[in-house]
Amino acid sequence: MTDLVFTVQPGGRLDAAFRVPGDKSISHRSIILGSIADGVTTVEGFLEGEDSLATLKAFRAMGVVIDDVTNGATMIRGVGLNGLQQPETALDLGNSGTAMRLMCGLLAGQQFSSTLIGDESLSQRPMGRVANPLREMGAKIELREGEFAPVEIAPATLSPINYDLPVASAQIKSCLLLASLYTDPGKGQASITEPAPCRDHTERMLRGFGYDVQTQGPKASLAGAGNLTACHIDVPADISSAAFFMVGASIAEGSDILLQHVGINPTRIGVINILKAMGANISLENNRVVGGEPVADIRVQSAQLKGIDIPVSEVPLAIDEFPVLFIAAACAEGVTTLSGAEELRVKESDRIQVMADGLAVLGVKHEVKPDGIVIEGGNYGGGEVTSHGDHRIAMAFAMAALRASQPIVIHDCHNVATSFPGFSELAVRVGLSMAVNEEHS
Ligand code: S3P
Repeated sequence: MTDLVFTVQPGGRLDAAFRVPGDKSISHRSIILGSIADGVTTVEGFLEGEDSLATLKAFRAMGVVIDDVTNGATMIRGVGLNGLQQPETALDLGNSGTAMRLMCGLLAGQQFSSTLIGDESLSQRPMGRVANPLREMGAKIELREGEFAPVEIAPATLSPINYDLPVASAQIKSCLLLASLYTDPGKGQASITEPAPCRDHTERMLRGFGYDVQTQGPKASLAGAGNLTACHIDVPADISSAAFFMVGASIAEGSDILLQHVGINPTRIGVINILKAMGANISLENNRVVGGEPVADIRVQSAQLKGIDIPVSEVPLAIDEFPVLFIAAACAEGVTTLSGAEELRVKESDRIQVMADGLAVLGVKHEVKPDGIVIEGGNYGGGEVTSHGDHRIAMAFAMAALRASQPIVIHDCHNVATSFPGFSELAVRVGLSMAVNEEHS
């Protein structure tokens, strides 16, 4: 076993204009919907990370011809809604909960069997949240120990469902929308209602493929057996990847960065809202709409942050950004409180506990709650932390070094490549002082 270790020297400031890699959520969906569309879908800005490439490979294994990705561009020769073929082996979705949950929905209504597997982290994440409503639709799904991958899916005929999501999860919503494509339109529409707004890339992209999806407040509805017509998808830069640099530039005195072509879908901008409420100096420039998704360039200059009570309504809108927001809180004046965020415990790691363990190493005062954390800002030191294989925790602690008094050594950083290929090179180019080593353990 080898351990990928980031060693980040304390101090520095960020100063550059740059574009972070493509949005992970939109990249997965471009492959999924492009594959079941009629015609050739072209994609630019695709995230060449391990997660989205695993999705691409899975669709190739089901007979879809997809070009190798070159500089973010690829071409998907769609096979139509009913053109997927039975894969010869289990589909390995690596570290990606999004891929596994969305594909459960897509595969539940096929006339062939399939098996979905993932890495150690993904194999410990709950899948009953998608299997249960899919079973209500008629799906035949078996989970290991009733909850986990491998997921075994047998052929089934699905009926539309009216479902109230128990959690504000775009993965469950998207899973059920994809399954609904395979329902009999004679049986009416399926509708999925969310308890609070969560990312709506599936609804937007389905519409981009010409599919009729209606949204009325929290409810998204569609009827099955329509056609998706191939289109062009411009994947914006991932706001979740940009978030590391937004916090880095905010906390490191003298910083001034411009993050280019970032997706600012209203269901994803919790990190901007929260940082602004903390006093961050963030402005959006050159706002535009690209392929149905709003995009802007984001300028961030350093500012003295202050602690806040994070509004619960912002939690689903910033769900992937909390590791780095905890670092912002550690650098803020006063106390920051997060509640209503128990979902963080079932991400790539238990993000409340793993972040708390790292904050303890740095000497940041905090108190863990079942559904959140209280963090007291102030000066902190350095030390050795582990990401527990969680990409976003590794990158969050790299940014923490900008304000540490000692180096921060971060273990288990391999999975940074799942969402942010080239992170360390980019971080160094824009002002972080970090080294990457492969250590044999
Ligand atoms: C995602 C939804 C979110 C998010 C994940 C990506 C998506 O998960 O954390 O990284 O692309 O639909 P949940 O649906 O579990 O909140």
